[in-house]
Amino acid sequence: MARVYIVNDDKWIDVADGAKLIALQDKSSILFACGEGVCGSCLATVKEGGENLEDPTDYEKQMLQNFGAKPGQRLLCQVIIKKGDVKIEQ
Ligand code: FES
Repeated sequence: MARVYIVNDDKWIDVADGAKLIALQDKSSILFACGEGVCGSCLATVKEGGENLEDPTDYEKQMLQNFGAKPGQRLLCQVIIKKGDVKIEQ
């Protein structure tokens, strides 16, 4: 079982190892408007534990570039957590 700490909500959320972080939908304040990497509503900064996330796909990299994302930012609907703890802020 992996865990995600949402700074904005000040809470930990359990997610399955290997899950997409769209699993945080309805469990956090993060809005997943499209779920497909096109709207940018789920753009957030990985504060700690980035090594526990799969690297961005070429698609996510392209969309991050389109949104002018800063280093450390990810589109959570596209992110897969491998295991362990990750801290995220939006
Ligand atoms: S929910 Fe739209 S980009 Fe992630």
